[in-house]
Amino acid sequence: MMRKAMLRSTVASFTVGKAIARKHHNGVTSLATSRRMPPAFSSSTKRRPAFVPLLNNKNHAWLLTRGGAAAESFSTTSTTSTALNSAVAESETTAPVEVFRTDYKPLPHLVTKINMDFVIENGKTTVTSELFIEPNSSVEGGGDLVLDGDESCVKLMSVSIDGKELEKGKEYDLEPQKMIIKSPAPGTVLKTVVEIVPEENTQLSGLYKSGPMYCSQCEAMGFRRITYYPDRPDNMAVFENIRLEADEKDYPVLLSNGNLVDSGKLENGRHFASWSDPFPKPSYLFAAVVGNLGYIEDTYTTTSGREVKLGVYSEKENVDKLHYAMDSLKRSMKWDEDKFGLEYDLDLYNIVAVESFNMGAMENKGLNVFNTAYVLADKDTASDADFERVEGVIGHEYFHNWTGNRVTCRDWFQLTLKEGLTVFRDQEFSGDMNSNAVKRIEDVRMVRARQFAEDAGPMAHPIRPESYISMDNFYTATVYVKGAEVIRMYNTLLGTEGFRKGMDLYFERHDGTGVTCDDFLQAMADANDVDLSQFSLWYSTPGTPTVKYSSAYDASTGVFSLTLEQESKSDKPLHIPVSVGLMDKESGEEVVPTTVLDLKESKQTFEFNVKGDVVPSILRDFSAPVKLMPDSGAVDEEALAFLAAEDTDGFNRWEAGQRLYTSSIFQNMNGKESEKTLQYVFDAFERTLKGEKLDDYSIQAYALLLPTEATLSEEMEIIDPTAIHKARGAVKQKIARKFQNEISAKYEELSGLVEADGELSVDAKSIGLRRLRNVMLEYLCSIKETPEEQKAAAELAKKHFENASGMTDKMAALSALASMEGKGTEARDWALQKFYDDADGYSLVVDKWFSVQALANLPDVLDRVKKLTKHPDFTLEVPNRCRSLVSVFTMNAPAFHNPSGEGYKFIGELLVELDKLNPQVSSRLASSLIRWRRYDEKLGALMKAELEKLKAMKPISEDLYEIVSKALD
Ligand code: PHE
Ligand code: ZN
Repeated sequence: MMRKAMLRSTVASFTVGKAIARKHHNGVTSLATSRRMPPAFSSSTKRRPAFVPLLNNKNHAWLLTRGGAAAESFSTTSTTSTALNSAVAESETTAPVEVFRTDYKPLPHLVTKINMDFVIENGKTTVTSELFIEPNSSVEGGGDLVLDGDESCVKLMSVSIDGKELEKGKEYDLEPQKMIIKSPAPGTVLKTVVEIVPEENTQLSGLYKSGPMYCSQCEAMGFRRITYYPDRPDNMAVFENIRLEADEKDYPVLLSNGNLVDSGKLENGRHFASWSDPFPKPSYLFAAVVGNLGYIEDTYTTTSGREVKLGVYSEKENVDKLHYAMDSLKRSMKWDEDKFGLEYDLDLYNIVAVESFNMGAMENKGLNVFNTAYVLADKDTASDADFERVEGVIGHEYFHNWTGNRVTCRDWFQLTLKEGLTVFRDQEFSGDMNSNAVKRIEDVRMVRARQFAEDAGPMAHPIRPESYISMDNFYTATVYVKGAEVIRMYNTLLGTEGFRKGMDLYFERHDGTGVTCDDFLQAMADANDVDLSQFSLWYSTPGTPTVKYSSAYDASTGVFSLTLEQESKSDKPLHIPVSVGLMDKESGEEVVPTTVLDLKESKQTFEFNVKGDVVPSILRDFSAPVKLMPDSGAVDEEALAFLAAEDTDGFNRWEAGQRLYTSSIFQNMNGKESEKTLQYVFDAFERTLKGEKLDDYSIQAYALLLPTEATLSEEMEIIDPTAIHKARGAVKQKIARKFQNEISAKYEELSGLVEADGELSVDAKSIGLRRLRNVMLEYLCSIKETPEEQKAAAELAKKHFENASGMTDKMAALSALASMEGKGTEARDWALQKFYDDADGYSLVVDKWFSVQALANLPDVLDRVKKLTKHPDFTLEVPNRCRSLVSVFTMNAPAFHNPSGEGYKFIGELLVELDKLNPQVSSRLASSLIRWRRYDEKLGALMKAELEKLKAMKPISEDLYEIVSKALD
């Protein structure tokens, strides 16, 4: 499949290659330049070649994203033939080009205004664009205007100025991925006409078809797949007149950004609508949706009295599932006013649910587009987690209106500027709506399981990356959730009020512009009159730092000293906020309340005056995204047991329990179980089960759950997935058997409470009740060695399934049943069939049905998954469906990492197909294979073999190429 050729004029002269014609899936023939490929990321190519002018020499702050034909804002690395990688040199593949953060160059010309006309016909959409061009006053010297355009997707029909067609070669030129307009005069209005075929756009970037609708996705670089344009975020333009025209009967709804300014009927059953967005915006925030849709409406009145019309749209049969999204939207609007004084700024706010979508959702100005999975929810089809995700993502996209849209990114390297900040905001929102303590535990579980793993693999990058080939590859856990942790550290260091002052100044300074992470840091520093220059190292340091601790108590002076030592990939020490509290050993009382220690040196000792020996509770609330470990190497289990029982900080109480479980699991794995450790674990479990010191069912549930296999993996240098799975299962069984009666009793007690709770509601308390009861179910169902036990477990789960009050309980029961064998087989097969029948073809529930089977703990799960790829409901073309089976299978560690290598092979083969359809989805799936160095030699070699096969594949998308080659580097 053809991908963008990303050569720019600055490097073309250094490349060895020839133009070859390629036929694309949409029938458009275009030119791709073939050239020899650089050894993708060897250290020699990472350095900027000396001949590329050094425009920005600063060693910090901008961010990244993925997506190839990267912005003109960057000169690109080129390579001389000596640097060529012979393995790939023969290939006729389009050469990926790496783009560097420090090579940013402002545009000499800006498009300040644009009008567009979309004429949508079956199999062909004609897009006419008028670009109003002005010189960029901050750039001297003028020059040519370079427009981005992906000729594999857009077919140029005409280009003119003032009604006069331009002459190719003289007034304009076409190069791979771009159009060059020779020295346009100020005030030039350039008109282009292109044709696109949304019906054949399987990449889901640009304008594409999903079910009964046409919809667009432009972040990061999809707008160039719709029209020729300076497709980079530092070109902000007013989208003044966006006219959409289509058949009225098939496509009654016509939506774009901003306000509706005109609409009407046309001849031949056609109609049109014109939209205008008064706020200048970059092209990635453009959106259009044209379809046969249903919707619900509401209004929201802002504090200052502006009435905003709200609309949430979906395919007609799903309109009854839109209410939770609408309520969440109103809660988000109120929250941002209360917390940050930020109001919505247009008269209209629309959200559209789309089935085929690469990501979660998209914050297009005034017209958010959502993956159905993050909008649709009702009591029969959505689990508690689904409801929470809908609320969180609705909030996230809404909050982007200020942190992302009103103030946007100057270039894609700054992605964490908007994403880290907006994730932080949505986390706080969700916490405030439900439980802050629970939300924090969930978020930290996520950081550890996903982001730490990314940091420990070949795709490790700072939250503000230094380079990319495909920006789409950099919408990562690091940019998003580690980025949010970095924002949280500002909040911890400056306090809520100080943080708010910084936010106010940030908007005051930068509203209506595209800025950098440095600008954000500077606003925070200036508003609080503090120096954050050391803190800025978080933007440039990849990997997870470690903090080692040791402590001593001097009884003669009453001084308790805590020594902290940091290690990271930064040359200089980071500024790490370490929240600490001290608990008296005797009384269990907190004698020093939570205090933020500023760890700024490599090694630092902090002293406290206390009245008797204390136990330190360190890194409360996970105050920094680091790995905390004892300097001695051995955890003090007695102290952990003490904290698990006594810590006044809920987060660290949970944490202490988790670390005890972890000790016990690793001891089991190493065949060196200590009775003492096990006793600590039992004590902690028992106390938690009884509910001592707990006021929240959800926290209780999380404290009874063992760390996930993914989290445990990050504790091992060489990961042994099978051993982890076995050891975790063994400890779980031990607990379950030891407390079987108590767990059973708790289950019954909770069943009574759930029943008394009445009609299903999704408030924090009801969610907590169900969560805790389902943890009990999980423990009880883990006892299934003998036929009698199998029968009992299956009966219990079946009853749970049948009496389920909603999707949460149903899924809990089904997950337990899906892994049953022997005497449980019949119940398993019955439940899977019943669940499928009840889904009645509704996609999001069918996705759950695929997932639950992909995650099953059965010896033949791979065969089952392979068979499911042949199921009539399975397709690679809808990302949700593809992920529900295939990506979820890669999370089933013992199955995916089966020593035969068959799991890897399955994914490798599937990627060949998938990459032709949708590179964004294929490169994400390929991430499951890239951490091969973290496994033993045998597994590592098998994974590597799949990567090598993929790397040799021709053609290969640049997205997949980047991931695979970084993994093999
Ligand atoms: N910007 C979107 C968000 O974070 C994510 C996204 C990225 C969606 C790229 C589509 C494409 O909300
Ligand atoms: Zn976002």
